[in-house]
Amino acid sequence: MFKVLLWLVLTLFSGSGVVLYALQQQYEDQSVTYRILYREVTVKLSQLETILSLLSVASDPSAVQQKFPQILAWKTLPKEDSTPTLRAAENGTYWLENQHFALLIDPQVLLADIPQIHSFQHILMSWNNRPLFEIGDGDESTFWQWEKGINSNLQPFELSANNDPEWARLPWLLLLLLSVIWAVVVYFIGQYRIKKRQHSIAVLREHFSELTRFNAIGEVTTGIVHELNQPLTAVLSYNQAALRLIGQQQMHKVAPLLDAAVIQIKRISTLLLHFRQKLTLEQVAFQEVNFSKVWRRVTVLLENEINQGKVKIITRIPDSLPTLRADPLWIEQIFHNILSNAIQAQQHNNAASAWVAIGAEYSDQGITLVITDGGPGLSEQALQQVFIPFFTTRQEGLGLGMALTETLVQRLNGNIKAENIAGQGACFTLWFPFNTQEL
Ligand SMILES: Nc1ncnc2c1ncn2[C@@H]1O[C@H](COP(=O)(O)OP(=O)(O)O)[C@@H](O)[C@H]1O
Ligand SMILES: [Mg+2]
Repeated sequence: MFKVLLWLVLTLFSGSGVVLYALQQQYEDQSVTYRILYREVTVKLSQLETILSLLSVASDPSAVQQKFPQILAWKTLPKEDSTPTLRAAENGTYWLENQHFALLIDPQVLLADIPQIHSFQHILMSWNNRPLFEIGDGDESTFWQWEKGINSNLQPFELSANNDPEWARLPWLLLLLLSVIWAVVVYFIGQYRIKKRQHSIAVLREHFSELTRFNAIGEVTTGIVHELNQPLTAVLSYNQAALRLIGQQQMHKVAPLLDAAVIQIKRISTLLLHFRQKLTLEQVAFQEVNFSKVWRRVTVLLENEINQGKVKIITRIPDSLPTLRADPLWIEQIFHNILSNAIQAQQHNNAASAWVAIGAEYSDQGITLVITDGGPGLSEQALQQVFIPFFTTRQEGLGLGMALTETLVQRLNGNIKAENIAGQGACFTLWFPFNTQEL
């Protein structure tokens, strides 16, 4: 709408400028023609006066009349004292007199060749408002008018001419071209503005993603501390146990402990690889992730803690649960954080009453996971702040696990909410849509 208006205004402005200029040119041309006409008429009228002054009694009227057909008749005036004068006669003719002679002039014949030298719509030669010579229609009102008195003592006539501009001669093609040019200009201005806006949006986005990355790096650094802590502790305790067993010469029990340590060390290695990917801003490789498999893997990783706390793991993930496009390590970290929190929350439970349950449902849109435990549940403050970085109620806690978890869930376009279930413990509900393409 704005563009059309702009185009219209520009076209109208420049168009009227061009039209005015063209009209001015036409007017100047016509004014020149009028001056030529005026001169022609003046010459013809003064020619008559010259003839009149040259006549003598000896002149042969018929010879003069033959040469000058505009003289219809002539007569010799008897009285010598009459002053030179002009007298109107019939049918627009007039008597031109001096002391001796009077000539009857027919302006129609006098100005017979006038029509050829002009293009006016209307020409009028009048004397005291009596038309002497007229061509064209004088009733129509016209655009332009020229008027001037003939500079002559004997024949002080008025000569006027009227005309309209020749509309067809206006530079229509140029006008059309102008409107096209303006349309193109307005179009490009529009394009330029769109480009500029897109550019600034791109700059903003770039800036934003820079910030996000920067943020991510900070998160990763603190994340490293958090994530490596658990497997390192596990490796330490497996190795210490193995050393103890070697000391007791119970060699056959050492191998499973070392196997468990190897699994934890592999996790450390994967985590480090993952962190390196993040730090070097490598694109994460999404793949189809089977929740069931990842959950099982996490329970293996946390086997030590699960066994120590005598925690019962209840897995209710249907076999038909579809896979989700994601980074498997993200899902692993999410499960790991939630599960280890649940185990930690039940450290002081009565013997063998600790449990963690995972349930999964799915629809066309995505997957819902519900992870509940038999712990005391989240405190009032924890319910509000559990996802806020560095919120922790544990002495050795960092308060980063759930903050990282929420970030990862959100990166998968999902969401997570925490609540308590009366008579049970904490309940985390996670939602992952199938379109997990990272934003
Ligand atoms: N399953 C749970 N039951 C009770 N409290 C929990 C549970 N999960 C998390 N919380 C609470 O949320 C806090 C933040 O957890 P988290 O971000 O993992 O940090 P950290 O484990 O280092 O304390 C915990 O300190 C705890 O108070
Ligand atoms: Mg934690």
